[in-house]
Amino acid sequence: MLKTFKACIGQYKKATILTPIFTSLEVLMEVLIPFITASLIDKGINSGDMSAVIKYGLIMLLLAFVSLFCGFMSGKYSAEASTGFAANLREKMYKNIQTYSFSNIDKFSTAGLVTRLTTDVTNVQNAFMMIIRMAIRPPLMLTMSIIMCLSISPSLSMVFLVAIVFLATMIISILPRVNKVFSETFSKYDDLNAEVQENVTGIRVVKSYVREEYEKKKFSKAANTLRKLFEKAEGMMALVSPIMNLAVYGCIVALSWFGAHQIVGGTLTTGQLTSTFSYIMSILMSLMMLSMVIVMITMSFASAKRIDAVINEVADIQNPEQPVMEVVDGSIDFDHVNFSYASGSGENVLNDIDLHIHSGETIGIIGGTGSGKSTFVSLISRLYDVTKGDVKVGGVNVKDYDIDTLRNEVSVVLQKNVLFSGTVLENLRWGNENASEEECWKACELACADEFLKKNPDGLQARVEQGGNNFSGGQKQRLCIARALLKSPKVLILDDSTSAVDTATDAKIQNAFQTEIPDTTKIIISQRISSVKNADRIIVIDNGKISGFDSHENLLKTNTIYREIEEAQNKAGGDFDKPQMD
Ligand SMILES: Nc1ncnc2c1ncn2[C@@H]1O[C@H](COP(=O)(O)OP(=O)(O)O)[C@@H](O)[C@H]1O
Ligand SMILES: [Mg+2]
Repeated sequence: MLKTFKACIGQYKKATILTPIFTSLEVLMEVLIPFITASLIDKGINSGDMSAVIKYGLIMLLLAFVSLFCGFMSGKYSAEASTGFAANLREKMYKNIQTYSFSNIDKFSTAGLVTRLTTDVTNVQNAFMMIIRMAIRPPLMLTMSIIMCLSISPSLSMVFLVAIVFLATMIISILPRVNKVFSETFSKYDDLNAEVQENVTGIRVVKSYVREEYEKKKFSKAANTLRKLFEKAEGMMALVSPIMNLAVYGCIVALSWFGAHQIVGGTLTTGQLTSTFSYIMSILMSLMMLSMVIVMITMSFASAKRIDAVINEVADIQNPEQPVMEVVDGSIDFDHVNFSYASGSGENVLNDIDLHIHSGETIGIIGGTGSGKSTFVSLISRLYDVTKGDVKVGGVNVKDYDIDTLRNEVSVVLQKNVLFSGTVLENLRWGNENASEEECWKACELACADEFLKKNPDGLQARVEQGGNNFSGGQKQRLCIARALLKSPKVLILDDSTSAVDTATDAKIQNAFQTEIPDTTKIIISQRISSVKNADRIIVIDNGKISGFDSHENLLKTNTIYREIEEAQNKAGGDFDKPQMD
């Protein structure tokens, strides 16, 4: 872990080293000042020597100035180093997240990754700043003040020894408890962020189902748990201040008492007593600071571990050593494939799938929700690796392909399709960055996305808001199909991608596929019989198993599940349109 974090200091090494150097200089000046004060009082004021007063006064002024300057520099460099360090951490995490496979993402969850990129990095950034600024300061201040104290008056120094023992026992008994509560707090942050993320991304659904009150309650419950934990931790921390005060006042009283005796007895000067006061206050302050630093560092340790896990997570889908760089055709073979999600219950989501699809065929897939349809197609472009068996595209195991090559040839319109903010053209060019506007229009025509785009005065330059929210569900789906078509893939997979498109348009899109991309293997998942019945063959998936794989006519005769779905949908009027909300 340390190695990972050290690497993130990177170009901020200079600032990281300069910070403690300036801090040490600052401390040195601060320690010297009370010493000079003692001389000023004893040699100047007490003996009425004005020139000594001026001399020591000037020295003090100079020291104060240097100390201020060093303090400023250490602040400046520590800010530079810690923000730079945090930026490097974030970049490194972000870069590695880009290499993640779907199952890596499942492992952390999107909300988990967001918390790690934000809250956790901020924690570590603060701790880093503390370490380079504060970890040096209190110990240095402590040792130097103790040395100064001892050199002035060993007997008076006994006072702070008592105070130190008192403070140390109190701190040691409080800190571990505070720590435990704080680390509990951070795990609760994930829950809160997950809550916010889910609610905000799904705000439209929340509103249309009038679930605001329920969501508010859920949120305030999560927020309250967090508040209580913080309250508990801060409550314990609040004890620290009176304890500290007790130690300070105790020291003042004891010092005045013993000091006065020694001054009267002539073994101590007034100046020496004043500077001992300053040093003892510094010692107590340093102890407090030291304990704060320890709290901060241990607190951030949990965050550091969470960041480290993201940076060092190895993508579980990687290119083979000698990848195949070409997909010859769109044939697909599943050889006795089993699959279970690593993040799931461990049960097989797909069971002994064994089927063969010819290049250029149109295949329909139908089955209940959760039956494994999306899982089935995600194996074709190797979004997940099979648990058992083999998946082949163009006769070659998907594991042997260069991943980019495979995914360019196997174009998937995911069930949860997403558009990114920008223009329509930019979104389409995700499919093929070199596509001309003409080619883009052509793809839109095929996907029936041209009609509404032509009505828009900006055409292909029309703005897409974040998440494509200024387009209707059906329009978004058609744009996503056009984007997938621009890849001119050998295999095109539509995962329920026309659910929000009316039946007539759906049929038009499918006709266009037949005539315009005859050589591409087309796999169409749908909830509607009408969307798949013209396919060459239809796969009926039931509970992770293939229940039938044949043409519409044959399935009606042989497959009861298929027949039941058909009858149910015929009764409902043949259409099964459901509004898409996201
Ligand atoms: N990322 C995932 N992690 C764990 N389990 C999942 C994941 N995605 C889907 N599942 C589970 O796998 C099963 C099949 O899901 P899916 O293939 O999406 O079904 P369908 O597309 O037919 O509705 C479901 O029981 C679902 O809960
Ligand atoms: Mg699905």
